[in-house]
Amino acid sequence: MDVCIIGAGIAGLTTALELQRSGQSVIVLDDGPVAGGETERTTAHLSSVLGDRYDELERLHGADGSRLAAASHTAAIARIEAMATQFGNRCGFERLDGYLFVPPGADPSVLDRELAAARRAGLTRVERVPRAPLATFDTGPCLKFPEQGQIHPLRYVAGLAAALKKAGGEIFTGTHVSAIEDGAPVRVQAAGGTVRARAVVVATNSPVNDLFAIHTKQAAYRTYVIGARVRAGSVARALYWDTCEEPESQGASRSAYHYVRLARIPGSAGTELLIVGGGDHKTGQAHDAEDRFARLETWTRERFPVASIAHRWSGQVMESVDSLAFIGRNPGNRNVYVATGDSGNGMTHGTIAGILLSALIQGRDHEWAKLYDPSRVPFGAAVAFTEENVNVAAQYADWVTPGDRKSARGLRRGQGAILRRGVQKIAAYRDGAGVLHERSAVCVHLGCLVGWNSFEKTWDCPCHGSRYERLGRVVNGPANSDLPPVEAGDPKKG
Ligand SMILES: Cc1cc2nc3c(=O)[nH]c(=O)nc-3n(C[C@H](O)[C@H](O)[C@H](O)COP(=O)(O)OP(=O)(O)OC[C@H]3O[C@@H](n4cnc5c(N)ncnc54)[C@H](O)[C@@H]3O)c2cc1C
Ligand code: FES
Repeated sequence: MDVCIIGAGIAGLTTALELQRSGQSVIVLDDGPVAGGETERTTAHLSSVLGDRYDELERLHGADGSRLAAASHTAAIARIEAMATQFGNRCGFERLDGYLFVPPGADPSVLDRELAAARRAGLTRVERVPRAPLATFDTGPCLKFPEQGQIHPLRYVAGLAAALKKAGGEIFTGTHVSAIEDGAPVRVQAAGGTVRARAVVVATNSPVNDLFAIHTKQAAYRTYVIGARVRAGSVARALYWDTCEEPESQGASRSAYHYVRLARIPGSAGTELLIVGGGDHKTGQAHDAEDRFARLETWTRERFPVASIAHRWSGQVMESVDSLAFIGRNPGNRNVYVATGDSGNGMTHGTIAGILLSALIQGRDHEWAKLYDPSRVPFGAAVAFTEENVNVAAQYADWVTPGDRKSARGLRRGQGAILRRGVQKIAAYRDGAGVLHERSAVCVHLGCLVGWNSFEKTWDCPCHGSRYERLGRVVNGPANSDLPPVEAGDPKKG
């Protein structure tokens, strides 16, 4: 076996297909279904407009780095377009303009700085226009980025999976990977046995093979999305983003912004879905999902002709401290590679991973390798690095707090809460039949205490974003095993 890839999201499957088509033998292992992770929740803007903007990218990575970032994301959109065309465009790839605007009252000079920086990065066709092409909402001056794109993400990933199998690759779903041991070959401990491969790619969104090296350089944020029905044609088809600076996160410097696009509704010619995202906060550090959805809905209704709200969901993005993903050889390893740190541009970063890792694993250098190197030291992002890690350290104070409630008495069906029992902190959940389930509340990654997410009904860790489903099964790394059982010796009450 040449390459074993862990994770069947956009990053894992793109990498698998690129390698298989280059003559490598590839298998993909995933503990869920294909695209059951964040790729299922994405809003799938395909954009070379990066969340922290070119003005900041140039400061962090220099003029050459900023130029390579623009070139690599532009190339990724083109690669997705080419793949979609090969798959018969069942995923509805389309090219669109993107508009970046400032929120009311904000200084529009940020747009001038961004225009100059984007052009220096090679995006020479970006222009400043008086407003976005929206009849119901005057955005004021904004930047128009041509040649962006969008897709139906699940149909696109289904195309990747089908093409991989056709090329001879194999995908094993429902296969949890519990350990990865670097070497020649690399040994992967999976449900059902050990896999030996010349190279391994950990494409689990948040790496499950790393304790510190990468997780101190990125942070997990939850983001919220609504799907609103609008009359077809009432909103111009484009991508829209604002530069909103509302400090929605608790205790961290990242700000919440809005991202908007349209999608067709199959079988409904007269109606389209307006997909609006925002309200981000650090995972496990806010417990007000309903308020965030309400604010998102108000923001949307004030600007767009909404008929009704059809969908609400949330998901997780991994924000790297210097705004770009970590793609390449895992720090300290010889034959293990990672793709993580999507920074909200995971569809393009996942595609960049496919192109870059395929070259590196086959022993070829690549001009993007240094920019995305997971071992890079984010000197320019020292402030963000320190803020994020001080924020993590502060979470350990939860150990001395009393817990959400004294006992599980009064815990309603479908509800979870943290209890304190002696020195133990317990994650208690009462299921629909009234049965109480208890696990230790101590995250298996580095020992922070998880908290209850009442919208997703999961236990979320405020330190590095590990998440566990209501009964304690791990669903997001860096943790890679379930919440431990409650230690014996202290009788259960409730
Ligand atoms: C709400 C939302 C909106 C977004 N909008 C955009 C956007 O508009 N544009 C954009 O570019 N990006 C966007 N992103 C980011 C982008 O969607 C993600 O970065 C991307 O989908 C992640 O893909 P992935 O392959 O890295 O991870 P995933 O899709 O999460 O795949 C990882 C896989 O690894 C598997 N796995 C994990 N641990 C193990 C294990 N131990 N053993 C076996 N398998 C394991 C999981 O089951 C999962 O299937 C958005 C994200 C969210 C949540
Ligand atoms: S995710 Fe790191 S301690 Fe929980």
